[in-house]
Amino acid sequence: MSAVRVEREDSVAVLIIDNPPVNAASWEVRNGLLAAVQSACADPALRALVLIGAGRSFIAGADIREFDKPLRDPQMPAVIAAIEACDKPVVAAIHGAALGGGFELALGCDARIATAEALVGLPETTLGIIPGAGGTQRLPRLVGTAVAIEMVSSARRVKAAEALRLGMLDAVVEGDLRAAAVRHAREMASRKRRLRDLPLPEERAEAVETAAANALARGKGRAAIAEAVAAVRDSARLPFSEALAKERATFQRLRESEEAAALRYLFFAEREAARVSGLEAAKPRPVHQVGVVGGGLMGSGIAVCFLDAGLPVTLVERDQGALDAGVERIRAIYHRGLQAGRLSQEEMAKRVACITPSLSLAALASADLVIEAVFEDMAVKQALFRDLDPLLKQGAVLASNTSYLNLDRMGAVTKRPADIVGLHFFSPAQVMRLLEIVRAEATAPDVLATALAMGKRIGKVSVVARVGEGFIGNRIYSAYRFQCEFMLEEGAYPEEVDAALVAFGFAMGPFAVSDMSGLDIAWATRKRLAAAADAATRFPEVLNRLCEKGRFGQKAGAGWYRYAQGARRGAVDPEVRAIVDAVSREKKVTRRVFTPEEIQHRALAAMVNEAALLLREKIAERASDVDLVMVNGYGFPAQRGGPLFWASRRPREEIAAALDSVAAASGAGFRRGDVDAVLDGLRPK
Ligand code: 3HC
Repeated sequence: MSAVRVEREDSVAVLIIDNPPVNAASWEVRNGLLAAVQSACADPALRALVLIGAGRSFIAGADIREFDKPLRDPQMPAVIAAIEACDKPVVAAIHGAALGGGFELALGCDARIATAEALVGLPETTLGIIPGAGGTQRLPRLVGTAVAIEMVSSARRVKAAEALRLGMLDAVVEGDLRAAAVRHAREMASRKRRLRDLPLPEERAEAVETAAANALARGKGRAAIAEAVAAVRDSARLPFSEALAKERATFQRLRESEEAAALRYLFFAEREAARVSGLEAAKPRPVHQVGVVGGGLMGSGIAVCFLDAGLPVTLVERDQGALDAGVERIRAIYHRGLQAGRLSQEEMAKRVACITPSLSLAALASADLVIEAVFEDMAVKQALFRDLDPLLKQGAVLASNTSYLNLDRMGAVTKRPADIVGLHFFSPAQVMRLLEIVRAEATAPDVLATALAMGKRIGKVSVVARVGEGFIGNRIYSAYRFQCEFMLEEGAYPEEVDAALVAFGFAMGPFAVSDMSGLDIAWATRKRLAAAADAATRFPEVLNRLCEKGRFGQKAGAGWYRYAQGARRGAVDPEVRAIVDAVSREKKVTRRVFTPEEIQHRALAAMVNEAALLLREKIAERASDVDLVMVNGYGFPAQRGGPLFWASRRPREEIAAALDSVAAASGAGFRRGDVDAVLDGLRPK
């Protein structure tokens, strides 16, 4: 069947775009549209055209799957040029998503009308590119340069009501969209209104400068953001056609970049992660009510995730003080949102009203999903599970937010091990996109399906892991940290390692992160692991020495660095240097200089090796799941695609050499993963 079909309503041609599931503007769509527009224009019996999408959206954007190769003609600018060249008005009738090239097509039309649930925007920068079909030139003519800069650089998706207010839409209709669009087209009575002919709205020069400066600051040097800002500004600097051609050239150049390839990979990785083996026939259980046990930092953040998704939450704590503090934490999160303009007073009041605080676990009797976020200790969690078991209703899903512990052992103390699942949120839970969903041995398929459905509902990137110390993320992060600490013993200093990894693109280096989260937790975990490990396993030593001196990180005023009033004092702490040097001497290691590149390769190769082990052990289902975890939960730079994607784009010899160094540093207990086989699966064909 053709991707575009034409139906007539008297003198109006209705062009229906039909390319399931989201009407991506593939070659078939573009080709079909161009032919249909040209033929409708040439037909003297027709006075106007309407473009409308079949299925659930208008057009979700260019077909991203085509971006790895040169794009086939006709491309979207040619379709838009045909619409503009047509002397009959063309109306875009928008429902669902009109994003990227889809919204640009709508901007190429003479009018845009939409349903109330429509979503419009130019999200191209999230894919490492800029709009390439005139979005940076036509949007400012509707909303002004400052707003266009904000919108294109932030990739914000705008709901119909706001889009109407901003001028991105001409009308929002209730009821039959197609009928309304046809009426609108008739009422236009052959009048064209091409956005390219409109002048830019008057605006203050400072508003544009501020918008540009803010966008660049938020963009942190990312090429797509800088190019997007420049392209929008061209709308005021260059003649329309010249700016349009320049935009297209930039789009094509960025589309071929390594960064854009990495971001596309992550886009599809997110969708792939939702396909979990063994769940083909599983139906999620309905969830209308959620319970959270523990109102600490984690529990309150988790509660906010569900409240934001419109689900009522019962929050349980042990005593009144802790309960009040938990509710206060939730209020504080919303208060910050209010101050930042992310939600209204009314919305805040509505969400807070959906919390039921309680001191009794019995209050969870009607909850469909209960998540525990209590102290990370097996005995504590098991005791709670034992208490909850007789209280929860049959079929309720019982989840643990554990980040390391064995879920099978928690489920084993209940009579409902099939209802147990891990929901590992990352702090701050209401901000971090990753949700590691842990599938225990006994977890029922429909319980896992419920967890995945919940993850989608609260807007998380969900990745399923099997049980194993630290699951996917913490296990890889721990291998990475060990390697960074081994490099200290061999000659590097904390600030050098941090600087090298920040230069690679991490928001923070591992030692700065460690100071923030506290060294004591890692210390305790390592003592536990060391007691169970064989003698051949090498453990780094510096962290232990820092902890012995009470240097537990920021909260103690000192860790890997020194702090005063929460701020770091100086890049180098002589006491830390002395400890690092002393450990090297004791271990009889001759210290040597590390280059930033060597640090990066060693640290990342450790991640890559651990990932390969996780895949072999089937704790992770696929390579792209691992990359999603590291990007969305551990600050790995998205523009590098994740550790495995990154390594798959480096020369084989370079990765092999880095792995050899990791092996040499890790001692006799080192296990090597099938790295080459894993990377082969990701290398471009
Ligand atoms: N190209 C190719 N496939 C796409 C796609 C696209 N632009 N958008 C979605 N899909 C596919 C997904 O991969 C998924 O496939 P699968 O079922 O095989 O896994 C399927 O469509 C459904 O997608 P979602 O699971 O994401 O469905 P949702 O209902 O959750 O979300 C959506 C729908 C909001 C439209 C979301 O898919 C989305 O945000 N899509 C991308 C939008 C985008 O970035 N557009 C800009 C593209 S770049 C561009 O247009 C360049 C232009 O300037 C020239």
